[in-house]
Amino acid sequence: MYSDKVMDHFTNPRNVGEIENASGVGTVGNARCGDIMRIYLDIDENRIIRDVKFKTFGCGAAIATSSMATELIKGKTIDEALEITNKTVMEALDGLPPVKIHCSLLAEEAIHAALWDYATKNNIEIKGLVKPKSDIHEDEE
Ligand code: FES
Repeated sequence: MYSDKVMDHFTNPRNVGEIENASGVGTVGNARCGDIMRIYLDIDENRIIRDVKFKTFGCGAAIATSSMATELIKGKTIDEALEITNKTVMEALDGLPPVKIHCSLLAEEAIHAALWDYATKNNIEIKGLVKPKSDIHEDEE
């Protein structure tokens, strides 16, 4: 049912933890399954994501997508990170079962929420970034 990559990132997730005094923190949840994901970003003066950590209280697919999403945005610019969608994350994991697609949406939205927090704190506008939803539903795909 799950690809080797999903199993790898689930059993050995990368970038788990918190960043103290993070540049931006984003928390999103899905009220239906009750899963919650939080992403911390450390962004340098050149708008490059120097470090990223996550904490996910959720299913295995949510943990695997958080882990892969953090790997994909680490070292990237804000604009590059914005281009990472749940589809990018799913592709990088060699796919997810259809009932688990909403789990990957959490990862995309958590990144956006953390970028939104960063932009708000620094009083800047990030082109293409819209105010994130705090509750993600499958039917909003
Ligand atoms: Fe809800 Fe996976 S079941 S995030």
